Amino acid sequence: MSNYHIKHLEEYFQVYRKSVENPEKFWEEIAEEHFLWRKKWDNVLSWDFTKPEVKWFEGAKLNITENCIDRHLLTRGDKTAILFEPNNIKEEAQHITYKQLHQNVCKMANVLKSKGVQKGDRVCVYLPMIPELVYTVLACARIGAVHSVVFAGFSSTALATRINDCDCKIVITSDGSFRGKKTIDLKGIVDESLESCEGVKTVLVAKRIQSEITMKQDRDFWLQPLLEEASSECEPEIMDAEDPLFILYTSGSTGMPKGMLHTTAGYMVYASYTFKNVFNYTENDVYWCSADVGWITGHSYIIYGPLANGATSVLFEGVPSYPDFGRFWQTVEKHKITQFYTAPTAIRALAKEGVDYVKNYDLSSLKVLGTVGEPINEEAWHWYDDNVGKNQAPIVDTWFQTENGGIMITPIPYVTPTKPTYATLPFIGIQPALMNEEGKEIEGNQVSGRLCIKFPWPSIARTIWGNHKRYKETYFSAFENKYFTGDEALRDEVGYYRITGRVDDVIIVSGHNLGTAPIEDAINEHPAVAESAIVGFPHEIKGNALYGYVILKDTGESRNQDNLRKEINQIITEQIGPIAKLDKIQFTEGLPKTRSGKIMRRILRKIANNEADNLGDISTLLNPEVVEGIIKKVLN
Ligand code: WT7
Repeated sequence: MSNYHIKHLEEYFQVYRKSVENPEKFWEEIAEEHFLWRKKWDNVLSWDFTKPEVKWFEGAKLNITENCIDRHLLTRGDKTAILFEPNNIKEEAQHITYKQLHQNVCKMANVLKSKGVQKGDRVCVYLPMIPELVYTVLACARIGAVHSVVFAGFSSTALATRINDCDCKIVITSDGSFRGKKTIDLKGIVDESLESCEGVKTVLVAKRIQSEITMKQDRDFWLQPLLEEASSECEPEIMDAEDPLFILYTSGSTGMPKGMLHTTAGYMVYASYTFKNVFNYTENDVYWCSADVGWITGHSYIIYGPLANGATSVLFEGVPSYPDFGRFWQTVEKHKITQFYTAPTAIRALAKEGVDYVKNYDLSSLKVLGTVGEPINEEAWHWYDDNVGKNQAPIVDTWFQTENGGIMITPIPYVTPTKPTYATLPFIGIQPALMNEEGKEIEGNQVSGRLCIKFPWPSIARTIWGNHKRYKETYFSAFENKYFTGDEALRDEVGYYRITGRVDDVIIVSGHNLGTAPIEDAINEHPAVAESAIVGFPHEIKGNALYGYVILKDTGESRNQDNLRKEINQIITEQIGPIAKLDKIQFTEGLPKTRSGKIMRRILRKIANNEADNLGDISTLLNPEVVEGIIKKVLN
């Protein structure tokens, strides 16, 4: 039996037991058998959640790019590593082989070196989803520089904050990016942010949209000519297991974004092992994760996890709605995609457009479907299962966080029986606990509580860049000796987990704890409803009452809104109970969302609480323009 690829449920339980009974021995075997080390570790694990401090594979030496690229050259040199699918359907897809990836990463590494980048330096990467993005990320890892990828949809203010926080001296960007029919002036955004980033001395600019831009003398350089000149050989920097690999920012409930720091060996082992099992990866697959590399999902499941396994990973530049709402499915057919991994919000948006966009494509190559980033509601789950997977391809609802580095709770496809809206079982090595408000662990099944993790896993973030105190306070102070996720979950009668939402989304109505997710699920079952979000607002008698924002499907017929309100509350009453009925229901065209697709309940809460004049910075939202419309129609 190879512990590396789990094939049956009994095997899952067996391997899981091993992984928690003797984690050191378990991870040592995985690390030993499946990776390339320049030197093995002296110690597998040392940890102390009170400091907090975690070290995996201490004393080991390696370079992650040797594991993701070089070691495949002999057996997979001509295999496609990155399959680039451009925004414009008329532009040809690019099949970048492992050999070509090696050359380009080495060239890029040499360019970075020629601009003075050294081991340990932070490099800000602000690029669209083009091959240069992958080259840059891996080139940093090749020379031991720490990449900080900032999603190229963030505003200049958000970019500047992130550049300054970790003191980047160089930014890699492009003249602009394509997004459906639009182009975005990335270089202009960078110029604007650099007005407040004195530390940045160099900007490398990839040409993508051929726009006219201004280049600042001695600071800005076109990337392509430098790449052409650069040598395609670059010896990898030999790194310590615990050397920083990257920083990735994630927003907290308050204050500055948190620069989560991930280190080298543990991250590599966990991203790779989860990829293999969660996507049932086999050699000839064509795997597609539609996330942006600017998120942890992109880091772990577009770049590092797939490449460590020698896989073909699709890099998609476009958007799901361009040239029309069939783009995902057309692309699945075109490249015979075997695994497709996306966000519930994308599924809901596409479901709203109807099945006509799906049904004419041949999706029979698909063997695994995945979702990530937020709870998936039952209706969206079934739509995905029926129309995309045709009830043949298992759906893995994968739960994890930027802080976790890799997937933590998930079904293993063809192994774990799935259950809609449930992320099901902990992945190998993950020891979850549900905690009550008094800080005690809740044992047994059919319970819910705050989700913690009791034991370190290899890819846990090691700190918040420059602020270890905040790291400790945020994740290790709520519950003694446990990592607190900030999420609430329930465990059903067989031990399956359902992540019900952030703890700060809990609303206490008349002394009852109500999670937003199940109520929204109920509302969304109304045939006229496309999407909804609920928040609490102060109520004289109940303490809090519920305020619902509801997007209606565009059915073309106009409906009586008062009747709709009654029907929605009827469904809630049926599914949860009268306690969960909404006091106010506002019909709206859109909901404010983060770039990763999460509904910003904080903003909706303020609007419902008549605090719309105090919303804070909304410029980093995906759709700041919807906020104005919501405020105008707020119900008092
Ligand atoms: C938060 C982490 C992990 C990649 C993208 C998001 C929520 C994530 C699920 C899921 C329910 C989920 C949690 C978590 N979340 N996956 N499958 N079911 N909720 O990373 O931006 O760090 O957000 O996303 O609330 O804490 P992130």
